[in-house]
Amino acid sequence: MKPLLEVKNLEVNFREGKNIFTGVSDVSFQVAEGEILCIVGESGSGKSITTLSLMGLLGKNGAADKGSILFEGEELFGKSEKDLDTIRGKKIAMIFQDALTSLNPVFTIGNQMIEAIRSHSIVSKKEAEEKSEYLLNKVGLSDAKALLKKYPHTLSGGMRQRVMIAMALAGEPKLLIADEPTTALDVTIQAQIMELLRKLNRELSMSVILITHDMGVVAEMADRVMVMYAGEVVEEAPVNLLFHNPGHPYTKALLRSIPGTGSEGEKLIPIEGAVPEDYDKIEGCRFANRCAFAVKECKVPQRLRKATDEEHYIRCCRYENI
Ligand SMILES: Nc1ncnc2c1ncn2[C@@H]1O[C@H](COP(=O)(O)OP(=O)(O)OP(=O)(O)O)[C@@H](O)[C@H]1O
Ligand SMILES: [Mg+2]
Repeated sequence: MKPLLEVKNLEVNFREGKNIFTGVSDVSFQVAEGEILCIVGESGSGKSITTLSLMGLLGKNGAADKGSILFEGEELFGKSEKDLDTIRGKKIAMIFQDALTSLNPVFTIGNQMIEAIRSHSIVSKKEAEEKSEYLLNKVGLSDAKALLKKYPHTLSGGMRQRVMIAMALAGEPKLLIADEPTTALDVTIQAQIMELLRKLNRELSMSVILITHDMGVVAEMADRVMVMYAGEVVEEAPVNLLFHNPGHPYTKALLRSIPGTGSEGEKLIPIEGAVPEDYDKIEGCRFANRCAFAVKECKVPQRLRKATDEEHYIRCCRYENI
């Protein structure tokens, strides 16, 4: 399949005075048309930074300084803000964990949707209203007319997230980035939102990058999985391969530590320690201090290498021996 998005050797830096913190480095991955890529990894591993940089949302002190981001074969690095505006928020849209903070409390859902639609295309207010109703129906919200008159706080969390997805669809995105979109919701609603994303992915052939901590969700949703640790990609593989033949000790440990991956009744084993602070200053393998298999070869920088299996990449010099 043709890559829709191709990220190569991405590096993101944050500056505070004289200090530079390299949030992610050497991040490379692709998303094909119609594909779902899940990004997993403990808190602070660089998942959000990676996707925020694609949207140009790193904030004042952050910048994607190195690498290449090709979208539909076009380089986004070096493009003017004006050109980027035609891509970000339109062809690439993003939804976040907390839909309430993303919606403006003082405007009705209708106001906000109509504005979103009119920012993407030149249409009358009436046409934008009709499109809002269409989009709300598309995300499974009935009685769209009444809903458009409501304020965000009167909606349930699940409904708000559906509204956010409807707004993201306004620009007819080819890629939807969802950063833990259901963390704030209860499990039943979570499952419904995931089902909706799957349906939109299939019906619209819309690619999805999904960040999640839930391996059950990964198993249900992902075509491919990218595992991040301390600002680096440590493993990437098609979902079945990752679950059945994980190569990196971190991936193995992660799968043992999170519910939803093993067989029922299997004991969960937490990963000892935590993601190191200032991980960008570590010379060799960043996981080595928590890894039972670390040897002196791990003290030098590790490359992401192709494993024997097709489309399987691992950043560990020892994976064949463990
Ligand atoms: N604006 C910022 N300035 C400085 N450092 C930042 C900034 N944003 C994020 N970081 C740091 O970058 C690292 C990666 O953060 P990121 O938010 O990408 O993690 P994450 O994998 O999304 O974690 P979580 O699962 O908790 O959302 C963390 O150490 C974080 O403290
Ligand atoms: Mg995050």
